[in-house]
Amino acid sequence: MKISIINGPNLNLVGTREPEIYGNSSLNEYIKWLTQKYASLHITYFQSNIEGEIIDEIQKQGSDAEAIIINAGAYTHTSIAIADALKAVQTEKIIEVHISNVYARENYRKLSYIAPVCMGSICGFGLKSYELAIQSLLS
Ligand code: DQA
Repeated sequence: MKISIINGPNLNLVGTREPEIYGNSSLNEYIKWLTQKYASLHITYFQSNIEGEIIDEIQKQGSDAEAIIINAGAYTHTSIAIADALKAVQTEKIIEVHISNVYARENYRKLSYIAPVCMGSICGFGLKSYELAIQSLLS
């Protein structure tokens, strides 16, 4: 199964960024570990701080990835363009992921433009949210 993991802005800093919210472990290292653990799956990983680059990656992966796991970071709450890109691609299995429980935080984080175009959302389980998304695809 080809799975594309796409991360948005500031997620490259998880490990040092607001550790009380996102923890002390590097997300980059965690994704490397996850890719090795699920080596039998073909997992690609992309992170960008730039909205248009995220859209380009969705368009690129969306023609042949069987599933997309996306944490759009703060763009989750603002980007109609990323939501439109997810709607436009052929990939049907799209899962929204968040490290923190966005519903227990500021009100502006409770709106997601991404959630309505996804199969489902996983949030609040720390870095493990990504593994839970993979496991949901395998079950
Ligand atoms: C986040 C939640 C967003 O609200 C925030 O802007 C992020 C990270 C998460 O994974 O918990 O950058 O997507």
